[in-house]
Amino acid sequence: MERLQKVIAASGYCSRRKAEELITQGKVIVNGEVVKELGTKVNSSDIIVVEGHSISYEEKEYYMLNKPREVISSASDDKGRRTVVEYIDTDKRIYPIGRLDYDTTGLILLTNDGDFANKMMKPSSNIIKTYLAKLDSILTKEDIDKLLGGIVIDKVKCTPNKVKIKEIDKKNNKCLVEISIHEGRNHEVRKIFEKLGYDCLKLTRISYGNLRLGTLRFGEYRPLSKQEINDLLMLIKK
Ligand code: URA
Repeated sequence: MERLQKVIAASGYCSRRKAEELITQGKVIVNGEVVKELGTKVNSSDIIVVEGHSISYEEKEYYMLNKPREVISSASDDKGRRTVVEYIDTDKRIYPIGRLDYDTTGLILLTNDGDFANKMMKPSSNIIKTYLAKLDSILTKEDIDKLLGGIVIDKVKCTPNKVKIKEIDKKNNKCLVEISIHEGRNHEVRKIFEKLGYDCLKLTRISYGNLRLGTLRFGEYRPLSKQEINDLLMLIKK
């Protein structure tokens, strides 16, 4: 049994606060009857209708996947390309939380909990994501300082939390850089480096908040523990 407002929010229909408002305003019907009590508990056999829309109640699942290259970060693809959800063995309607580019590898979260996904993706969530980027030339000290001072992308300044060179390949004039950012705009890391004249040859996300890829190989996944889910929620409450 779960609280009605939690189930409505988890379906992705609206936030928990908005669900509470809708309940007290008499806009929620459970098994044909208007329910105005905020403490009401429901289970998967209850039929819930909010403002005329039926809400599905599913047990919530949370996974981390090591996304391989050439995989789309969405639940389906009209061009028939492989999607991240195809890697997860579940009958629930899960979807990715945010996106990694088609050619980016690494840590991506998937869930069927719309409320949780919205919280993670809010621009204000400030969850730090760390990437390893292989660049087509060696990042200079001057450019590291420029990065740490903030780079304007599509008119918005992006200031990485951390930039660190992990490896230098002098012979081939390449380097591997660890970069942490808290925003989550499309192609952000690639654009940041492009702005300074570097091409990102490979990009992989190695951490998301408290979560690390660990030993997961490409295409492998695992469920998140309750503790990991709570830790992520705590990060956005700070
Ligand atoms: N930044 C990018 O440029 N690409 C990703 O896939 C993720 C972050």
